[in-house]
Amino acid sequence: MERLDKLLVSQGLGSRKEVQKLVRSGEVCVDGAAVRKPDSKLDPELSEITVSGKRLEYSRFVYIMLNKPSGVVCATEDKADRTVLDILPPQLRRPGLFPAGRLDKDTEGLLIITDDGDYAHKILSPKSHVYKRYYAELDGEPTGETARRFSEGIIFSDGTECLPARLEIAGKTSAYVEICEGKFHQVKKMFLSCGLKVTYLKRVRVGGLSLDVNLPIGQARMMEKNEKNAVFIGN
Ligand code: URA
Repeated sequence: MERLDKLLVSQGLGSRKEVQKLVRSGEVCVDGAAVRKPDSKLDPELSEITVSGKRLEYSRFVYIMLNKPSGVVCATEDKADRTVLDILPPQLRRPGLFPAGRLDKDTEGLLIITDDGDYAHKILSPKSHVYKRYYAELDGEPTGETARRFSEGIIFSDGTECLPARLEIAGKTSAYVEICEGKFHQVKKMFLSCGLKVTYLKRVRVGGLSLDVNLPIGQARMMEKNEKNAVFIGN
């Protein structure tokens, strides 16, 4: 059994204060009847909750989309830098959150933050074939030969072998790259192996989930259920 106000906060409906106000106003119904006491107890798996007439799709775990800015690190805590958890708005924070994957400190774009370990593992495992798509700006021109080398699987100078990757030339000195693994600085090192330096990197898609173009850099929001599932569609 869980407290109603705590449960509503966990589902991203607002801060504790905001949801308590919502409950007191009679907007929240449990199994068809308005419940006005924020500390009422219920089992979210068994009860139907509506907020202002709209059914709440309860999820045990949370899935957050962040448009990561440059300058923050993908970690749960760090002594020197702000982390991606530090920049989440208070209403999205809860214990157990972690970034599903790593973007470098200077990389921007789509990052999923969750407390669902199995989900994160499935995104990150190369066996799942979830391709991550990046937009890269370069200090030189990518060519057909660069694309061919990416498609064959780049081998780093220390012998590390990358799985075949997809490269699409976007402009004279920019490209889209898709990889389904996450070695340290992988995209930057793949380009370096071809004599090109990445000057800007942004992740634009994870599997079938694209970065919301209306989500400004540095902002985060709860993901919809269909967005959560889209990650595993169309790879
Ligand atoms: N590859 C990189 O080099 N950096 C990232 O942040 C992500 C992929």
